[in-house]
Amino acid sequence: MRSKIIVTGGCGYIGSHTAIELIENDFDVVILDDLSNSTEKTISRIHKITGVTPTFVKVDLKDSLATSKVFETHKDAVGVIHFAAHKAVGESVQKPLMYYKNNFYSLLNTLEAQSEHGINNFIFSSSATVYGTPNMLPITENNETQRPFSPYGNTKKIAEEILDDFTKSSDSFSAISLRYFNPIGAHPSGEIGELPNGIPNNLMPYITQTAAGVRDKLMVYGNDYPTKDGTPIRDYIHVVDLAKAHVIAVKRLLKKEQEESLEFFNLGTGVGYSVLDVINSFEDVTNSKLNYEITGRRDGDVPQLYASTDLAKEKLGWSADRELNDMISSSWNWEQNLRSKQN
Ligand code: WQD
Repeated sequence: MRSKIIVTGGCGYIGSHTAIELIENDFDVVILDDLSNSTEKTISRIHKITGVTPTFVKVDLKDSLATSKVFETHKDAVGVIHFAAHKAVGESVQKPLMYYKNNFYSLLNTLEAQSEHGINNFIFSSSATVYGTPNMLPITENNETQRPFSPYGNTKKIAEEILDDFTKSSDSFSAISLRYFNPIGAHPSGEIGELPNGIPNNLMPYITQTAAGVRDKLMVYGNDYPTKDGTPIRDYIHVVDLAKAHVIAVKRLLKKEQEESLEFFNLGTGVGYSVLDVINSFEDVTNSKLNYEITGRRDGDVPQLYASTDLAKEKLGWSADRELNDMISSSWNWEQNLRSKQN
């Protein structure tokens, strides 16, 4: 019999790619999503890619009763991967209460409902933002976490603390927190990818929208950082590599291979690229010129962030194998499909 995994936020960017990898690894997938920042069309696209239609339930996880009901229906699930959250850094600064309310109510209701039904395995979608401004590079999982700059980032840090308390209080509940660096790219089919709401905050969707003519010009936020070309360095990771890591993490919990009831893993490539590196690669891959201009620094940006990938390699046997060019060409392919379909 197939093992059932509940994927909250499974119509979103990373959730949908993970649902595909789960299906391809013979899991039965139930997607819970409120569609606040995604589309139900994702379900048919997952079918198109995998030949399987995951079960879909539109539910607001802030609603504890509704959450409890849906977990009652799917109490035969063996684990939960929790993506459902608001994620826009800038918006979280404007609307902190909305972020704290949404991200914590949904997390707490999910944890409560799943443990009520003995679903004791949990994967959390965390972020390298929990490291704040790191004092050591590459960043290992032992680096101290710091209060992140944004309320969004803080919801990830506090969520990890909640998981720490909760796993310690329970004999049976185990969790893995996966700390993503900078996920970009899209599924090679071009069927699914990132769907930014409004003006993108993040570099890659801003680049592809500029190249597609949706935005006039990319603003490069600062070239006076202490890096090789003055622009900040990040660890960009292909979303398909990221998705595969979730499947491995789930299997680790199901096989009870975890060494602690709460484990943390960085998900990055370990290789840092500057903003100008990304722009130059984009121009090479697409054989076109990008309209950009250097402007002042953006609040909260750190000069350099890249992962130590040793722990994930050693304990999960996972490492990313898709290159920057592949990340860029798949992002561009997705952007072009998006424009032609007008989603
Ligand atoms: C990358 C670089 C910008 C846009 C954020 C969140 C983090 C995680 C991933 C998860 C920086 C520069 C960007 C633009 C630019 N979120 N840039 N012009 O800030 O590393 O991480 O996304 O959900 O928590 O903080 O990623 O893609 O925004 O920026 O010059 O229009 O690109 O200054 O140096 P970041 P990013």
